[in-house]
Order: sequence, then structure tokens, then C-alpha cells
Amino acid sequence: MCGIVGYVGKRQAQPVLVNCLKRLEYRGYDSCGIALLGKNLEIYKDAVRIESLEKSLRPNSSHTGIGHTRWATHGKPSQINAHPHTDCSGKIAVVHNGVIENYLQLKEQLTKEGHTFRSDTDTEVIPHLIEKYYQGNLEQAVSRAIVDITGSYAFVAMHADWRGLVVARNESPLVLGVGDKEYIVASDVPAVLDYTDRVIYLEDGDIGVITENALRCTSNGKQVERTEHRIPWSMEEAQKAGHEHFMIKEIHEQPRVIRNTYKGYISALEPVVNLGIAKNTDLSDILILACGTSYYASLVGKHVIQSLSQIPVRVEIASEFNYSDTVLGKTWVVVVTQSGETADSLRALKKAKESGCRTLVITNVVGSTATRIADETLYITAGPEICVAATKSFIAQLIMLYLLALAWSSAGVRSRAGLITELRQLPNKVQELLDREEEIAEQAKYLARYENVFFVGRGINFPIALEGALKLKEISYIHAEGYPAGELKHGPFALLTPDTPVVALAARDNTYETILANIKEIKARESPVIAIAEEGDDEIDKYVDFVIRVPRVDPVFSPVVNAVALQLLAYYTARERGCPIDTPRNLAKSVTVE
Ligand code: AGP
Repeated sequence: MCGIVGYVGKRQAQPVLVNCLKRLEYRGYDSCGIALLGKNLEIYKDAVRIESLEKSLRPNSSHTGIGHTRWATHGKPSQINAHPHTDCSGKIAVVHNGVIENYLQLKEQLTKEGHTFRSDTDTEVIPHLIEKYYQGNLEQAVSRAIVDITGSYAFVAMHADWRGLVVARNESPLVLGVGDKEYIVASDVPAVLDYTDRVIYLEDGDIGVITENALRCTSNGKQVERTEHRIPWSMEEAQKAGHEHFMIKEIHEQPRVIRNTYKGYISALEPVVNLGIAKNTDLSDILILACGTSYYASLVGKHVIQSLSQIPVRVEIASEFNYSDTVLGKTWVVVVTQSGETADSLRALKKAKESGCRTLVITNVVGSTATRIADETLYITAGPEICVAATKSFIAQLIMLYLLALAWSSAGVRSRAGLITELRQLPNKVQELLDREEEIAEQAKYLARYENVFFVGRGINFPIALEGALKLKEISYIHAEGYPAGELKHGPFALLTPDTPVVALAARDNTYETILANIKEIKARESPVIAIAEEGDDEIDKYVDFVIRVPRVDPVFSPVVNAVALQLLAYYTARERGCPIDTPRNLAKSVTVE
């Protein structure tokens, strides 16, 4: 998820572009750049934040330009990989948000046709394709170029010989700010709000031709009218897409994040997952290392990989591994880290590598330190996560670990096909749950009254009890503990009173009957119980005080819907208590010290 902008109008473009990019930095901030129309295109770009780039800009009076702030997906953050990208002549410049899925084939073809590529990005194929079809009319060249592209995109193109912009959109967001003798193109509303509250949303397949005085939209070659809307939001609201906090905004992004994470790895033709990661035949076992929420995702990964591929999996907290004598045979070490910068995880990665282990990192940040240490990298595509409490990155980590298990699965084709079908249905299941968030908000009003809460689960959902407790702790400041349901009677029972609610994960798998028994034991100690249970499970109501219903899924995927339910419970509980949800005290998004 990057931020793209474009300006054509009565003002000087440079300060407008810089300001718009600052408003979009929550979409990505590992590098940025602008291009301004002049006799030749004037381009500034580097692997820095917009504030630093701003200092390097020379005065420029141009009224037309484009800009970009990046969240790298293809090609690490660097000056070369930063946008705008240009064609061979340097006359065509493009900024892009999205993923060009067939860029390798296009790059190969264009190289054969004599085009020279400078970067590792997927985006650079766009200006070269436009150049290939350019015969003096930028709109026609763009219309022809997008025929060759598959994938998601929103891009703005400009040509040195013409004072205007051409934009195109497919699956990535693009809005046009309508001003008096000016237009501002952007990935999202916050960029335009300093100039106008009148916006037009382009639709998939639309091409927009913009000059200072006119906007013309076409779709499949036919002229189309797009409705103008007035934006009632403040700047802060707009950056959160109308949500009150980045956390709830990021929770609502999860159906798209799940789709984005598995897209590209599941074959459309057969029930096969291909991660491009070869399976070591002499592999003795897998050791997963991580911290915090990433560690809990890894515990779910252990369950799934072992049950689907019969490869032994160990999981250790990275900071403990760093001081342990963990035995490493022909162990394949996997480090899971959203930021790719967590000091404990980096140290563990180095230690594993120095011990001669093959290493893989699963991360959300392209070009992060961990990707430069590990032998191989798998990217989750959650996009930038602003809220300190991890939500969408956790779900994306789960999906990537499911994909790893399926890629190495020794299960039969039929059961693999069944699991892949279920995986493809997860975004809709999660959306169903999000559509009923009000019910969970009601439960949160009850939970917000307490200072101590237990979360219990069994099997593949024990790690989700840990994650639920961590989320509640982090943002509501309620003391919460996650426990294997079978462990309560070995001590914590002593803490159970009517003032210590217990949230019990009651998935309909081989642990269901035992969880019910544990719930009866908890109720016998008069603690209130909130159950997270499946739709259609009428049995559970008899034993608990409240039930949060989650959509029915294959038990192996129950951690996903259960985790989203607990994210919502934590969010609304913290909101009920008036906590600073996005920036909780004493915490940092990336812990770069040991
Ligand atoms: C989770 O909400 C926290 N922000 C924290 O536990 C986090 O998961 C941990 O610091 C690990 O971060 P990483 O995934 O970036 O390595």
C-alpha cells in the first residue's frame, strides 16, 4: 500500500505535492519522490521520508507534477526503486500503487524489444509499456498499455511534452479532488482535503484525462460521468478512512489483507500452494523464533505445519533462544517478525545463521534488516500497520503459516483442495464477523468493568487465548492472562472469583467436550464466562454468561475468526475505558532494543 498523488492547476505543483505526500505517509514511508513538468521532467526521489526529500528540492514554478510515498513490495527501499519511474527517453514518468502480477514476463518482452530497466520494481514496466505505444497521445498509449497488464494498479502518468495527467485504476483506490481551476489526484482522501472537499472516486477500469480546466473519464473507451461527493471528515478522520482509530481501521482491512496474502501463492488451476521455497529433503525439523504477537502466530503455525506435513516443529521466544543452548540439527529456522527490525528476533536470526542453519524470515516490511540477514524471505502483505497493537499483520502471519503448511502438506489432493477452498472463503467469513461488531461492542461494555481477566483455549486455539489476553492488556490496561484451559486447575483457579471473568474459546474440534468441562469447573468458582463459539452451537449457551458468535469454519482455520473476535473485544473494551488505543503507554511498534 503506497500513496500516489498528482497535481495540475493554477498553483505551483511542488509544495502541493509535498503536502499531499505528507498526508499519505500512513500508507507507506520507506521512500518517496516527485516529478515536475518542465522543459524536461525534473525528478527528485530517494529512500527517505518526504520531509528529508523536501530539503533537497530546488525552486520550481511548474503547475503540473506527480508524487509517491512508498511501501515496498517489489524491490527494497532505495533511490533507484523509489517512484516516479520513467521510460527510456525520460519523457514519461509514472507513480503507481498496487502489484503488477505479470511484470516479469512484460519486463522480459520489453527488454527483448530494446527497453532498458533500471530498478527491481514491478512498476517500471508501466512507463516502458506506455513508451512502446506512444504516438503523441498519452491517453491512447495508456489505454493500450493497460491491456497488457494483469494485477492491481492505480497510477498517474505524465509526459514532458504535455501539460496534463492521465490516470488509470484497477483494484487500487484513486480519488480526484476537484478544485477551482485545479485537480488533485490521490490514493486517498486525506491528500486532497487541504485544497477541496469535493472528490470523485474513479472505478475499476476507469481512465481519467486531466488538465487544469477539464477532467474526462472513460471506461473501456466510452466516456463516463463519475459522481462528485462532498467529504464531511476532518483530516484525522480521513486518514483513518472515517474510523475513530487506526486499530479498528486495520481490523476492518483484514478481509482484503487475507486475500492479498494468499493471492499469488495459490494456483488457480489446481489445489497447489507454491511459495517458491524448496523443501529440504534432509530437513530434521523446523524451529520458529519470534516475539510477542508474532510468537503467538508461530504457535498456531506449529499446529498446522505438524498436522499437515508431519514435520516436527519447535517454537521458541527469540529473546529466550538467544541465551539458550537449543540443539540445532539439520534444523530449518523460521523467524516471524512484522517489522523485520525487532532486536531480539534479529539476534536470534544471526545466531541461527551462524550455527549453519538455513533461515527464512516471514515479515511485512520489504528491505527490513531481517530480510538482509535471512537466506530466504516470505512477505505478508498487510500494508503499513500504524497502531502499536498488531492486528492485520497477525492475521496475515497466520495465513502465511497456513500456506507454508499447505505447500509442504503430505495430505491427499482432496483434503488439500478442501482446505484451500476454505482458505479462499475466509475473507467473507471475517467480513461476516466484522458486520456484527456491534454485538461484540455490547459485550465489551461488560468486560470494561473488570481489572483482571483470563483467556482460555485448547489445542490450536490456546495461542489465540494468549493473543486475546495480549491485545486486551496492551490497549485497555486490564491485567489479562492467556492459559491452556487444562492448566487453570493447576494454580490459577485460586484467582477465580466473581470479579475475574474468563473468556473461553470453544471451537468445535476434538477439544470441544473438554473445554465445556473446563467451563463448568470455572462456573463452579462463580467466575463469569464469555464464550467465543460457532454459529449454530446452541449447547454452549447453557453453561456460560455470554456468547460471542463466530462464523463456522473448518476447525483448522478457527484461530482466524476467533482472533478477529478477540481483537474487536479488546478494541471496544479499551474504547469503553477511554484508552489511547493507537499509542498505548510504554509500548513501541517496533522494539529495536534487547
Ligand atoms: C503486538 O501487538 C505488539 N506490538 C508486540 O508484541 C509485537 O508483536 C512484538 O514486538 C513483535 O514485533 P515484530 O512482529 O515486529 O517482530
